[in-house]
Amino acid sequence: MQVWAVVFDPPSFTEELYQKGLLLIDPASSARIKRFYRREDACRGLIARLLPRMLLKERGVAPSMMTFAATEAGKPYVTTPDIDPPLAYNLSHDNGSVVMAFVNGKSHPPAYSIGVDVMKVHLPRRNPYRSFVDTFQEQLTPLERELLSPAVPADEGLQRFFWMWTMKEAYTKALGLGLGFDFSRIEFDVVANRVWVDGQVPQGWIFHKFQMTEAGEQYVGVVAELVEGVETIVVPETDPKPWFKSFRAVTFVNRAIEELTQTE
Ligand SMILES: CC(C)(COP(=O)(O)OP(=O)(O)OC[C@H]1O[C@@H](n2cnc3c(N)ncnc32)[C@H](O)[C@@H]1OP(=O)(O)O)[C@@H](O)C(=O)NCCC(=O)NCCS
Repeated sequence: MQVWAVVFDPPSFTEELYQKGLLLIDPASSARIKRFYRREDACRGLIARLLPRMLLKERGVAPSMMTFAATEAGKPYVTTPDIDPPLAYNLSHDNGSVVMAFVNGKSHPPAYSIGVDVMKVHLPRRNPYRSFVDTFQEQLTPLERELLSPAVPADEGLQRFFWMWTMKEAYTKALGLGLGFDFSRIEFDVVANRVWVDGQVPQGWIFHKFQMTEAGEQYVGVVAELVEGVETIVVPETDPKPWFKSFRAVTFVNRAIEELTQTE
């Protein structure tokens, strides 16, 4: 399993870069991206579409052969024929980061059982910690609520909350379900690094935690990967992570322009 993270600084992303980037993706995706009201959202969407293309390029696929589709619930996957081994990937974006996790696809084609979620650790404006966390009580389990009790300092609690949330998102995204899964069915004990679903340890899952700091802001995330036959584990966040690569958005898009501009 590997992760590519593109860190994004909106002011450095010029109009020229954005327009050139749009030319590298299919017209339907480009039209969807152009509909975003905020340029920042559009840039994140663009980077998210360039990431799997750069991966396919690394695997020797010509840009004209790169095709994608999405499941009914919206999970994207590669439809280019004869990718061997098949490619499983998933994307997540939040604030200044766009992250793609990928692995050789094994179970549940065509979208495969991999999910990633990344979030900036922060409180929304004018929302104090306690009321923010309380908003999500119904999506948390009793143990998770206990781990976020008022006895836990707010800084620590906020971090714990985002680990729990990204775990729940990554797991459901790996299942390809989007929002169609009650988050209170998933329990992440962030202290013991253990996961339960419906009160049982789900079978054959590897959960990788990662974090990064960009422009003084902390991001946390989880990759959920179904590897049938293994004992379920949560791999704690550690440094260094050989499977994790980070790129700056401007450098990444410039490289994409160089490598994905079709010459054939
Ligand atoms: C998938 C979803 C949970 C992700 O939400 P999020 O945490 O806010 O956003 P993230 O940035 O982490 O992930 C978004 C990416 O996940 C991927 N994605 C979309 N649907 C997905 C799904 N069902 N399963 C896994 N991944 C999905 C896409 O790459 C998407 O990127 P895009 O928005 O640029 O296309 C959310 O977008 C969702 O459920 N949407 C609703 C899906 C829906 O309504 N389907 C209707 C038919 S049931």
